[in-house]
Amino acid sequence: MNLRTPGPTPIPPSVAQALAQPMINHRGPEFEALFAEVVANLQRVFQTQHEVLVLTASGTGGLEAAVVNLFSPGDRVLAVSIGNFGDRFTKIAEVYGTDVQRLRFPNGHAADPGAIAERLRADPAIKGVLVTHNETSTGVTNDLEAITRAVHEAGAPLLVVDGISSVGSLDVRPDEWGIDVLIAGSQKGWMVPPGITMLAVGPRAWEAHRHARLPRYYFDFTAAHKSAQKHQTPWTPAVSLLYAFREALRLMLAEGLPALFERHRRLGAYTRAGLRELGLRLVPVDERYASNTVTAFWLPERCSADAVQERLRAEYGVVLAEGQGELQGKILRIGHMGYVSEADIDAVLQALRQVLATQAATRA
Ligand SMILES: Cc1ncc(COP(=O)(O)O)c(C=O)c1O
Repeated sequence: MNLRTPGPTPIPPSVAQALAQPMINHRGPEFEALFAEVVANLQRVFQTQHEVLVLTASGTGGLEAAVVNLFSPGDRVLAVSIGNFGDRFTKIAEVYGTDVQRLRFPNGHAADPGAIAERLRADPAIKGVLVTHNETSTGVTNDLEAITRAVHEAGAPLLVVDGISSVGSLDVRPDEWGIDVLIAGSQKGWMVPPGITMLAVGPRAWEAHRHARLPRYYFDFTAAHKSAQKHQTPWTPAVSLLYAFREALRLMLAEGLPALFERHRRLGAYTRAGLRELGLRLVPVDERYASNTVTAFWLPERCSADAVQERLRAEYGVVLAEGQGELQGKILRIGHMGYVSEADIDAVLQALRQVLATQAATRA
């Protein structure tokens, strides 16, 4: 199968082998060596000196962990959303009883840093900003550097970034740009199965955490931090996934971060060019913000997304992701992060060409 969903993503053979290693005591020295290496290498790929917490959960758990560890009931939070995953982050903050102010941009558009700054200047009570770096549902990447600048110039509330489909594939610089919490997920460009979320937590976030009163237990940053001092986790960790992570991080660092970021830039451009050649329109309205980890495109009029998706899978072994929310049935999404090459994208484009040609013939 050519698994081209934007998470889970394919894993290299050596990562699959690493998953099969025998189980070990998570309170013993082998685990401590494993965990220490994973955390140190995660810091390198995150390009941060901040502590990187490793929690057992999918990415949504990381978003929830950030909210419950930073805020108190009634705290005012600006939730910036450009799509389905931004809406999810917003919802989590609402469910936990923070005072959420929404700033929603239309699907296909990036967030306007000026509009964010304006909202912050108009309301100095805002304690935190939630924003998605790469919106996986629309294939749009926000200009995170410009957003961080705008946030810092407009009162500098805590900046919490969902980098689940960007960190490890795109160049994100939490320390340099001033991101207080940056969240990632193992099943994206990391080439690891789903189940682990990682959070780089900066000094201002730790200070906020000390005063934060939202209820929390499993995802408590203090518990994770205390155990990490001993290269352990507070609760039983997903040991096999950490074996996989150790191997995947070695592969990523052997490739080198500049080469890895460049490969994703190239694959993004390659995918977009191929789709344009097929006459398909991209969901991002301004290509400057088109994502280099996932590409979303509109299906031709009257062309059933379900039927195309199913034929791609059954006839060509190509697995794409459907649209979410109001985009369901109208778009498809191609993941190109992690263990992926131009040849994988070629196979998608060829299959798409065949399927769309015959779908059109069926309609005519
Ligand atoms: C940008 C973004 N945020 C959040 C999530 C949610 O993560 P998960 O499905 O791992 O809980 C995803 C997953 O696709 C994502 O791409």
